[in-house]
Amino acid sequence: MSGSMKDVARRAGVSVATVSHVINGTRFVNPDTKNKVLKAIEGLNYVPNAAAKSLKSKSSKTIKIVLPIEKFSYQQEMHFALINSMLPYWNEKQYIISLHQIDYKNEEDYNKIFLHTMDGMIIFSPTNEIYRAISHKKISIPSVFLDYRPEDEEEDEGNFVYVDHFHTMHYEVLELLKKKHHRIGYLENTEGSRMNEECKKAYKDAFIQSDIPMEAELLKSIPSSSEGGYEIAKAWLEGKKVSAIICSDEQISLGVTRYLLEEQLDIPTIFYTNGVWGSLYEQGETIQIPCEKIALQTAEMMYQLISKGEDEAITHQFRTEVVKEEASIYSLEKANKFIEEHSKFQTTRWRQNYHITPLVGWLNDPNGLVQFKGEYHVFYQFHPYGPEWGPMHWGHVRSKDLVHWEHLPVALAPDQLYEKGCFTGSAIEKDGELVIYYTAHDDSNKMKEVQCIATSKDGIVFDKSEKNPIIKNISGEAAEDFRDPKVWEYRGKWYMIIGTSKNQDGRAVLYTSSNGIDWDFYSVVATGDGKLGDFWECPDLFPINNVHILMISSINIKGAKNVFLIGEFDYQTGIFEKDTIQIVDYGRDFYAGQTFIDEKDRRILVGWMHRWGEAVPTQKDGWAGSLTIPREIKMDGDGNIITVPVQELQTLREEKMEVTPMKICDTIFPVKIKGNALEIECEFEISAQSPDMFGIHVRKSKNGDEYTEIIYDVQKQELSMDLNRSGKKGKGISTA
Ligand code: FRU
Repeated sequence: MSGSMKDVARRAGVSVATVSHVINGTRFVNPDTKNKVLKAIEGLNYVPNAAAKSLKSKSSKTIKIVLPIEKFSYQQEMHFALINSMLPYWNEKQYIISLHQIDYKNEEDYNKIFLHTMDGMIIFSPTNEIYRAISHKKISIPSVFLDYRPEDEEEDEGNFVYVDHFHTMHYEVLELLKKKHHRIGYLENTEGSRMNEECKKAYKDAFIQSDIPMEAELLKSIPSSSEGGYEIAKAWLEGKKVSAIICSDEQISLGVTRYLLEEQLDIPTIFYTNGVWGSLYEQGETIQIPCEKIALQTAEMMYQLISKGEDEAITHQFRTEVVKEEASIYSLEKANKFIEEHSKFQTTRWRQNYHITPLVGWLNDPNGLVQFKGEYHVFYQFHPYGPEWGPMHWGHVRSKDLVHWEHLPVALAPDQLYEKGCFTGSAIEKDGELVIYYTAHDDSNKMKEVQCIATSKDGIVFDKSEKNPIIKNISGEAAEDFRDPKVWEYRGKWYMIIGTSKNQDGRAVLYTSSNGIDWDFYSVVATGDGKLGDFWECPDLFPINNVHILMISSINIKGAKNVFLIGEFDYQTGIFEKDTIQIVDYGRDFYAGQTFIDEKDRRILVGWMHRWGEAVPTQKDGWAGSLTIPREIKMDGDGNIITVPVQELQTLREEKMEVTPMKICDTIFPVKIKGNALEIECEFEISAQSPDMFGIHVRKSKNGDEYTEIIYDVQKQELSMDLNRSGKKGKGISTA
């Protein structure tokens, strides 16, 4: 007798689908159930026909990626990078990727993997347990194991893609030994990992192979902390115990680097860092694992398996690649030459008349506002080579009157090994020199932000200090965003406030110094308590009358991006207590404001007129961005903080035109005053007959279709600016 699939199902007490899964291996079936089905098949002498088998060929067009839930952060970053690199491949083949995160430590989770229909699965960074569990299931779902090598490779048949940490490290250590570095310190964390083990073995083997005795005390396991790295590096190097150091833990390597920088020691180091998957970092040289290649090879391996329909063992192995860090391709000469050549071809359409704009390229934050030897200097975040944000330089303009600005050569270019961008900072006069404090930003590996100095005698040509970076490490009170130093002097002491965050809550921290060069962490000035954005940029702290203002920018504050926190600051504790908050500017484009005190003792504010995320029309003309006009910050009679255009701007006034008083009702009155740049003073008198709303249209087009409306709502006492008909981009209404 030979039964049908239905009979098998009936006898085994399961559904037809389950029988099909057992036959075709399309899903995980509980071993007991599977046994029952197999017995029924045997008992009924059932031979699956083509139809039963064809279920298998019904592709779900899905590849499952299995990932661990909690792993070291470096692994997560690596997983993201791999998935990203693989997506286009699967897209093109019209496969869907289904991501499945499971707890690799929890065996119950293993079975859940098989609960879905899929054509194949790629298992990321499996543990031995999960590898065994999956490969021993003998379910015919093609599987590729990525970032994994079974302990006993010979015996295991499987599809593996792995990075050969052993040979990579082995090669590097042999090189060091060849260069006569016979005492190489090796630091690892006590947690251990496969990568660690492989690297350590490679280190030991290199000594054996070179016939050089390895000193056991130079191989140390310590808890993962930067302090630990610092202390051991110090002990080793002070006692001249080692001439090279290897770390297989990022935190430890941070401490080692800090010690080397402080002591200005230039010894060979090899660090495994977290930023790029297991990249090795050697001074000035990053040895990276080729993530993209690995992802494509993995996808290709998977595709071969599913299209052939059979499990053929293929193994890929990667050695890491050496990527030399080039000396910077940016320089002041190059930037200035580019600007000179390209500003000739600029059109004047859409140029502002008296706002600061870049000759070419992109401008963002105002930087280093200062009056030096009588003249006003404004620097700005600047990418000369294109009208979009890019490697940051410092652009520079100068003025005698805060009104007419003269363009000067670029002040800073990201030309040092420690920087890929010269980020925002401030300027101050010290002993007749102009000193700039700025953030050297480098995100080529893991993001690094350190604080630096550049000085100038003439206020035009700046030298970066040999001592840079002067603040090398973020303190425990700050996250990796750690930038925009604003420096001032108070009663013979120097203060530097820096924008940062901790646990995704914006905060500002303070450093102090007796000479402006050696700085110590002083305090956490203030935090946002979860209400003022996840990260603070461009902090500034200054007194106005009897209060202190902490001005911060943060793109994630609801309702405003640049705010004044008004309260009290205590120099004894370094802590600012906030009483109230005020929006710096109710317009739609105001960010990254910075202030300075001029010789007339005015507190002057300049901001960047921009809103993130929108194209800027002038980009077509090769430039983008402008700064706001300088405004004086004051307190009015009611204790409100107000900002008023500096009085020098009145010198721009030319011809005066007047409109005779008129009565406003529902109609629109044409006013015969024309101009591209006008200062408009309007006075409205409200009476019982006044309309509920009134205002003016400016920049009206000839056909009347385009205009900007400035309107007052009498009931609500609100002044609004409506940009919805102002042009192509940047719509919206802002209200004060
Ligand atoms: C603010 C900002 C600063 C940074 C600079 C980089 O707009 O993000 O925090 O220093 O821009 O250009």
